[in-house]
Amino acid sequence: MIRALLGDRPEITPVWFMRQAGRSLPEYRALRSRGSMIDACLDPAMASEITMQPVRRHGVDAAIFFSDIIIPLALMGIHVEIAAGRGPVFSQPLHTTADIARTVAIDPALVTERGGPIVDAVGRTTAMLAELSEERGEPLPLIGFAGAPFTLAAYLVEGGPSKDHMAARRLIHDDPAAWADLTAWLAEVTGRFLALQIEAGASAGQLFDSWAGGLHPDDYRSSALPASVTALAHARALPLPDGVDRLPLVHFGVGTGEILADMATPDIDALGVDYRVPLDEAHRRIGRDLTLQGNLDPAMLFAPEPVRTAAIHGILEAGRSARAHVFNLGHGVPMDADPNAISAVVRTVHDWRAR
Ligand code: CP3
Repeated sequence: MIRALLGDRPEITPVWFMRQAGRSLPEYRALRSRGSMIDACLDPAMASEITMQPVRRHGVDAAIFFSDIIIPLALMGIHVEIAAGRGPVFSQPLHTTADIARTVAIDPALVTERGGPIVDAVGRTTAMLAELSEERGEPLPLIGFAGAPFTLAAYLVEGGPSKDHMAARRLIHDDPAAWADLTAWLAEVTGRFLALQIEAGASAGQLFDSWAGGLHPDDYRSSALPASVTALAHARALPLPDGVDRLPLVHFGVGTGEILADMATPDIDALGVDYRVPLDEAHRRIGRDLTLQGNLDPAMLFAPEPVRTAAIHGILEAGRSARAHVFNLGHGVPMDADPNAISAVVRTVHDWRAR
């Protein structure tokens, strides 16, 4: 996985899934039957166990840390809940310039100071991964992650999930100074959350800009991307452990066909592509040789086996256009997906060899 992210082509294409830990797994639902999502994220024993579940069950080549993009905000004392089936909901959305000014006055260093449960959970996870890796005879890295400032800002100003992110798109033009303050502050907050996981032992990082595709490309470049670059720089600036030459960083968003080349910033090694753009076309649009990650339509988890296999093979072929390919879905695992279908994808990817 790590070699592929950095540009090598191992004989077997590595695979992991966004949202591989979660409600598609009965063992997750059993553990999560009590308590809130945020409590689960801040409980190191539970968060590390949930992180391991899909690695054990599906045989994926990496774990993604079980947490959420809003956890650094919760650590700072901002009141947020995760509504089942909807997503993060803030009790005090940032509606006015004064709301934003009050929020950005909170010191981002609090994320690091209060990040003990995250550091503990990452430590427990890497210890369990090392054990399983010994059993399997192959390395099993932990991928850390953070939300991009734009996606986090969209939740904060909207107060919750939104189809069109209108509040964020309005604010960019209506009060550019407040928008700049908010996204610059979020870059510090979310950059620290990512750095915390990497310092605690995660071997790679992914920045999720889930809603970046909702912006006009010019607005993405001027009003979203700069803060993402700052957030990624936090991870890039960390000292590397002995024997490690480079920390692999992945950048991902949904509906990003028009901005793929912009997302391919110098600090990243791999670009996550959603299911709407074929990988060979994505490679052409990027115009730079990065590792590509993706991009099976999550809906294919519900397709008959021969249909799904053909789609996987098509993606693996298209992925050959790039220097290297890490297989993934084009977005997260749907909660009602059949876990056996997810495991079957792993087997199909692992059985495939470039001709
Ligand atoms: O397995 C993994 O991918 C690791 C953990 C992970 C979660 N959220 C767990 C989770 C990661 C990497 C995220 C990131 C995240 N969170 C993103 C970016 C990725 C994306 O999907 O675009 C976003 C936008 C969020 C915000 C968020 N949190 C949403 C939209 C939801 C879904 C609401 C729902 O119930 O479907 C959540 C909740 C959430 N995050 C769950 C999980 C496992 C479900 C919580 C539950 O069990 O009730």
